Parts: sequence; structure tokens; C-alpha cells
Amino acid sequence: MKIVHAASELFPYMKTGGLADAVGALTGALADNGHEVSVFLPGYRAALAHKDAAGAERKLRLKIEMGDQFVAGEVRVFSPRKNLRVFLICREEYFDRSAPYGNGERDYEDNADRFIFFCKGVVESLRLIDIQADVVHAHDWQAALLPLLVRDAERRHNVTLALKTVFTIHNIAYQGLFPATLFAHTNLPDELYNIDGLEYYSQINLMKGGILFADRVTTVSPRYAKEIQTPEFGCGLDGVAQTRTEDIVGLLNGVDAAIWNPAIDALLPARYSPANMAGKLACRAELLKRCGFAANFKGPIYGMVARFTEQKGVNLVLDNRDFFLGTDCRLVVLGAGDKALQDAMQALAAEAPERISLSARLDESMSHLIEAGSDFFLMPSKFEPCGLNQMYSQVYGTIPIVSRVGGLADTVSDVDENPATGTGLMCAPTAESLREALGRSLALFADKARYATAQQRGMARDFGWAKAAKGYEQLYSDSL
Ligand code: ADP
Ligand code: GLC
Repeated sequence: MKIVHAASELFPYMKTGGLADAVGALTGALADNGHEVSVFLPGYRAALAHKDAAGAERKLRLKIEMGDQFVAGEVRVFSPRKNLRVFLICREEYFDRSAPYGNGERDYEDNADRFIFFCKGVVESLRLIDIQADVVHAHDWQAALLPLLVRDAERRHNVTLALKTVFTIHNIAYQGLFPATLFAHTNLPDELYNIDGLEYYSQINLMKGGILFADRVTTVSPRYAKEIQTPEFGCGLDGVAQTRTEDIVGLLNGVDAAIWNPAIDALLPARYSPANMAGKLACRAELLKRCGFAANFKGPIYGMVARFTEQKGVNLVLDNRDFFLGTDCRLVVLGAGDKALQDAMQALAAEAPERISLSARLDESMSHLIEAGSDFFLMPSKFEPCGLNQMYSQVYGTIPIVSRVGGLADTVSDVDENPATGTGLMCAPTAESLREALGRSLALFADKARYATAQQRGMARDFGWAKAAKGYEQLYSDSL
């Protein structure tokens, strides 16, 4: 099949979270399965500077209609792997920035234009390069206009650009909500600015467009597919999601075993496998050293790697300060984002720097070391569409402590509830429930045999992308 993906993140060219990992791994798996895969990404500074893009070919000059103006850009392409082409939609004014969505304090003011331009650039490429896609697959709000723009361009130019469109919701909490005046920049027919179109409480909602107009809608776990149709998790789009209830499927993400695999992970100081766990101890020693903690510490190390947002339950960890200050344990946190959460975590670390550490930055290598060197991985999310870190934890022999929501509930089972099969500890997304799970983690850690059994079970689980990719292939080839 000829498969086109469009997303605002793609590992290793731009990453702020799991979207990059998921799109990178899925498109790689599809290419390895013999499909002709094209992935479109904005031409960010980091992507253009990546070594893979060094020889990128200038493929097209773009003149994109944005309201009553034409905006110039260009398309560059390179091929990092057999059957895979990466197209960069470039315009310096929009994408020559170090971060994709904002400056850390707030989102960029021109985000609507940036991503409308991106989607239109993809459509122009489909038309002018004549890709003849079997499927155009758009991810999250930044690419959500694509299904609609593809059909609009087909109508205007009397051509077929894609047989089928798919929209994947990685996180319904981010919707691309913008002032109604920006609707004009889509150049879509006026009748699409209404309650059955992009209009949402007198604004435009790009994700709503993806949900309504793609032929198929997916989310990244079966449980989240149900959750988004409820007021508790739908972030105001639950009613819209319900209108597509027949077409929404939840396909679980996987783990890219070429990147997240302790047996070959080049970012670790030592490698290990279920049969030989010695390397995990070396990773633990390195982690203690990097955090400036005593090297001979023998108690449990709790790791956390997360974007600092409401979603990730950082405040539930903070609410359990007494546990982390009062227990003979270590807490290692890697995360950046919301300033108030970051300051609060920094203050906690400052109270006990010999046992609590915060690295407030993006650091790919540290994220691998924390997965490998910790005994427990904290992920008490309020909601979690899929979550990758709890799967990475299991693969790295680190027991995840997760809340029972979304993809976390689909990928972890509790060792106390399921003594014969459990691989983690589960709680409700509340401080009290997390406290109870933390208590149980101490008991598990103290029982070395039980801990090792749960650890080995996690490492034996198959989270490979092969299964997930099959689900998408089936969806792509299903007749409508
Ligand atoms: P989300 O996509 O909601 O952030 P996931 O669990 O799906 O959550 O994926 C998070 C990804 O982002 C993981 O690969 C994780 O290691 C990475 N990550 C999050 N914060 C950081 C950070 N500060 N430095 C490096 N990697 C990070
Ligand atoms: C989003 C979600 C996360 C998911 C990731 C990849 O960022 O927050 O749960 O794992 O997308 O699909």
C-alpha cells in the first residue's frame, strides 16, 4: 500500500513526548512490512539540522493559499530507511524555532497558521508529487485538518488524492482551539464553520474536524477509545466522539525494540537481558552517581520521566512528599513543562538533595537511564491515552506504578490482585491511592523473590509493534 502519515512529531527528528515515538515506530514498522510509506513533518530547525536530512532533496516550491494571501514555502525529502520517505514542509518564519509548540511559558501565537500551513503543504504535495495514496493518516490536532483538506482539494481540482483518510487521537486534551477569525485561513467553505463542522463554542476546533471528517478514527488504546466518549475524559469532545462511535477503534501502541531494548541500548552504561541482569545493577550505580546520591544505597529507587502537565499526576507525587522524605528510598525525576509543578518538584528536591533529584530538561539519554536504573517507575496519570513509559518500564525490568486509566489499565496488571500474572502496581489517580500503592511497593521490594518474578514477567511481555502495525494494516485495507 501507499501510506502517507502526517504528524507534528517524529522520532528522531522532533520529540516532546510519546507522539514522536509512536509515529516513528509505526511508520518504520509499516515500511519494514513492505509498504511505501511517506511521513510529513514540519521542517523544524532540529529536523533540518539532523544528519539524515543533510542530503535532503528540494522537492517542491509551495505557494499556499492562506485566506486572501499566498504564503511561500518548500518541501524537502530524504529517505532514512528502505520504503520510507520523510517530507519536511518548510517555511522559516513558521518552523525555524527550537521548540515545536511554544516557548515554554506559552504556546506560539501563530500556531493556527503554522499548522494550517503544514496541512495545506501536505495536500499540495499529495497533488503535485502525485503520490496516489491508499491512505492518508493524520495524527493529533496539528494534522487534524488534513482529512477535510484532502477532500476539499479533491473537489476543487477534480482529482483523487487518497482512497481513505484516518485520524488518530493521541491526546484529546489538546484540541487546537483558535479564534473564529482564523477559520478564513483554512479557505474551506463557509458552511463548515458551524456546529456540524469546525465551530466549537464560537471558536474553531481543529481536532473536532479530524474526528468528524476522517473516514476512520483511532485512539491509542482500547480503553481510551471508550473513555473519550464520556464527559469525564472527553474534554468537551465526548459528544462529537459519540457521533463516530461505530468508526472509533483503539489500537494499542507498541515499543520500538530497536530503540527501547535493554539488551542493545547504546544509551546505557551497560546492557542486560532477562537471563543476565548484571547490567541493570551497573545502570543503577550510574543513576545514583549522576544524581549525586551515595553509591552504596540499597533501598528502592523510584523513577519518573514525564512532561510536566496536569495529566501526568506530578502533583500526586508531590502530595506524597512525606513518603519520599520519610522512607529510605530515592526519587529521580526527569521532566520539564509547567513552571509551577517544576518549581514545586525543585523545592522538594532541595529539601533532601541527597535522596531526591529533579532534572528539569529534555534528555533522551537520561530517560533511558532512569528506565533502566530504577526499581519502580511512577506514572500516576489522571488520564493516559496510551502511555509508553509503563511499557518501557516492563521491558527494562522496572516495576511500573500506574493509575488505572486509559492505556495504563490496558498494559499493566497489579501483582497483588493477580499474583500469578501481575507486572506492576495500580492505583486510582488520587494522592491517597498512590500512597497505598507506594506502601505496597515497599512490601514487594522487600520480598526479593516476588519482585524478581514480577520483573521477569514484565520483561517477557511482547509489546512489539508488529501486533499494532497489523491492526493499522487491517484498518487501512478494510473496505469503508
Ligand atoms: P506522553 O506522550 O503523554 O508524554 P508517553 O508515555 O506516551 O507520554 O511518552 C513519553 C515519551 O517522552 C517517552 O519516550 C519519554 O521517555 C519521553 N519524555 C518525557 N519527558 C522527557 C524528558 N524530560 N526528557 C526525555 N524524554 C522525555
Ligand atoms: C500522547 C499521550 C500518550 C501516548 C502518546 C503516543 O502524547 O499522552 O498517552 O502514549 O500520545 O500515542
